[in-house]
Amino acid sequence: MSAAANDTSVDGQIPRQPTAPGTESVLPELRNAWWEHGVRRRAETGVFGVFADLPKLIGHAVAVSWRADRLRTLIVAAATLGGGVMSTFGLLSAQRLLVQLFSGGPTPERVKAALPALALLAAATAIRGGLGIAVGYAQNGLSPRVNQAVERRLFEATTAVRLDAFDADAFADDMERATRGSDAGIALVNDTANMFAGVVNLIAVAVAVVVINPLLLAALLVATLPNGYAALRAGHLRYATYLAGSVRRRRLWVLQRQMAERDSAPELRSYWLRGFLLGQYDMVMRAQTTEELALARRVTTTTSIGAIISGLALGGVWVLLGLLLAGGRIPLSAAVTCVVAVQAAQRALATATFQLDRLYSDGQFFKEYVGFLDRAQTYLPSDDEPGSLPEPAALRQLTVRGVSLRYPDRESLAVDDVTLTVEAGQTVAFVGENGSGKSTLAAMIAGLRSPTAGVIEWNGSPLEDWDRPALGARIAVVSQEHHKWPYTAATNIAMGDIAASPERATIEAAAARAAAHDTILALPHGYETLLDRTFKEGQDLSGGQWQRITAARGFYRDAELLLMDEPSSALDPRAEDALFQAIRSRQGQKTTILITHRLANVIHADRIFVMHDGVLVESGTHAELVAADGRYANLFALQAAGYQRSG
Ligand SMILES: Nc1ncnc2c1ncn2[C@@H]1O[C@H](COP(=O)(O)OP(=O)(O)O)[C@@H](O)[C@H]1O
Ligand SMILES: [Mg+2]
Repeated sequence: MSAAANDTSVDGQIPRQPTAPGTESVLPELRNAWWEHGVRRRAETGVFGVFADLPKLIGHAVAVSWRADRLRTLIVAAATLGGGVMSTFGLLSAQRLLVQLFSGGPTPERVKAALPALALLAAATAIRGGLGIAVGYAQNGLSPRVNQAVERRLFEATTAVRLDAFDADAFADDMERATRGSDAGIALVNDTANMFAGVVNLIAVAVAVVVINPLLLAALLVATLPNGYAALRAGHLRYATYLAGSVRRRRLWVLQRQMAERDSAPELRSYWLRGFLLGQYDMVMRAQTTEELALARRVTTTTSIGAIISGLALGGVWVLLGLLLAGGRIPLSAAVTCVVAVQAAQRALATATFQLDRLYSDGQFFKEYVGFLDRAQTYLPSDDEPGSLPEPAALRQLTVRGVSLRYPDRESLAVDDVTLTVEAGQTVAFVGENGSGKSTLAAMIAGLRSPTAGVIEWNGSPLEDWDRPALGARIAVVSQEHHKWPYTAATNIAMGDIAASPERATIEAAAARAAAHDTILALPHGYETLLDRTFKEGQDLSGGQWQRITAARGFYRDAELLLMDEPSSALDPRAEDALFQAIRSRQGQKTTILITHRLANVIHADRIFVMHDGVLVESGTHAELVAADGRYANLFALQAAGYQRSG
């Protein structure tokens, strides 16, 4: 398959392309993602299984709408129902009108007798139209409000969950489906109103038909139910396919961005990845199209069979009517009304089943949303009442006691039974090879991750026993994978302490400590320069310049405990020197935990902790560790030799 795929997808201008092995294995998620938790079960609940959940979902949607805008929710509900009643009323008036017109007697008399019915019909039609307009207005105002409320709730959840939620397999896919579900919220509210209107209408017409002849009602049901069932089943097929394609859609979305976005543009060109990415796109698209075609076939078959059965049954209804008329069982006026009623009933039934289908599929999508919010709950940090926990005092001692962490689906521990103590005012360093667990340990100390075993104590009490926001306010973290926030340079730094009102002097002081001040002044609008090239007048920075800004963000909050994870990896020697001087100036007053590979910078640290494969293997001052002639001494000698050779 890959040879053919490459032939068709690769542009002639592109030279060599990756061949079979790479292309096949890059995207394992082309298949339907049945392995995801609960997805198969959800898809297999069957057509009627979902109805069990519908009342709850409708309740949820109406509650959301009610909270978003009470008045408009009431108007939509009342006016839609009123509209349904009015159309029934109109139908009955039409029936009376016809009876009057087709009764015996001279024509002018008949017309005169029919006038009240005509007036009623006109009134019902007018009121119905007016109510329709009211629904339109109310819905227009309601939809954006409900959308906003539903979407905001989603982001409230995604921003509140613990960091480890993002390591869970299905979280991203759940989130993808939940986004779609948020649109279904407002749809569900509208569907519910329309559905009720349809049912009211249907009942009224059914009553009218039964009055004429009960046999007709049975015939009508036969004529409409197959269509209704087919519509439901088609909806279920669409939903099941949608569920299974979640990973594929996300992959497609990622690919689309990779091919169109600025971040990937340089590497795409330098490695000639264009043909490769287009090839991947073709493969995912082909899988997607195959699924969609299969779905279209099944949906068409289902609805066609429904339509054929319904059509035959409807023919039966007309034949039955003819027989009744021919046998003199009903008068002509009743037969004419009957034709009108049957058509009205058909319309009502069609509307009701259509609404049911919509309600069903919107309900399912909304269920994904609600389900995501439920699952997100399990990732929320323990929700202690604000203020129920004591606020921590200034740091005296930080203790890491037998702490381990295992990432999900990983065999070995990322951090393995580490015990260490940091006294207030110390500058300590974590050193060790890539993947030795330094960042993971720092994340636990910062309270971003919870240890799988062991405990981290602030002044002798576990971190969880302190008021979280108050504890957070005492800690600043410059993480290894810093984020480039698309705001101005000043805001990028001030985000280090979003609770404080941004003071230009403080921002500049923080920038100066991270050697970022001159860099920022050289930008077209200085501190007010927008740091996102994709916006008008936005600017981009070099990797090292960005790193200066992120270090400044860490300094902006004059935190008691500052964690800096490889803050100088991209800095030039002068900037690095300035940064480490700023860090050293904290020594004796504030506590700093520093992770770096530039060992020359940790010589002055009060204590150096050497990590290897998650285990704390050595600790001591630089002099002690060099004297011990272990792992640290080895790494240090290696780095020092590099400088000596070149010098
Ligand atoms: N989010 C994660 N999910 C799974 N494994 C991870 C995650 N982050 C790091 N790891 C693994 O944990 C180990 C330690 O990583 P890390 O603490 O980042 O090391 P260091 O900062 O010392 O380079 C590595 O083996 C890494 O692959
Ligand atoms: Mg790291």
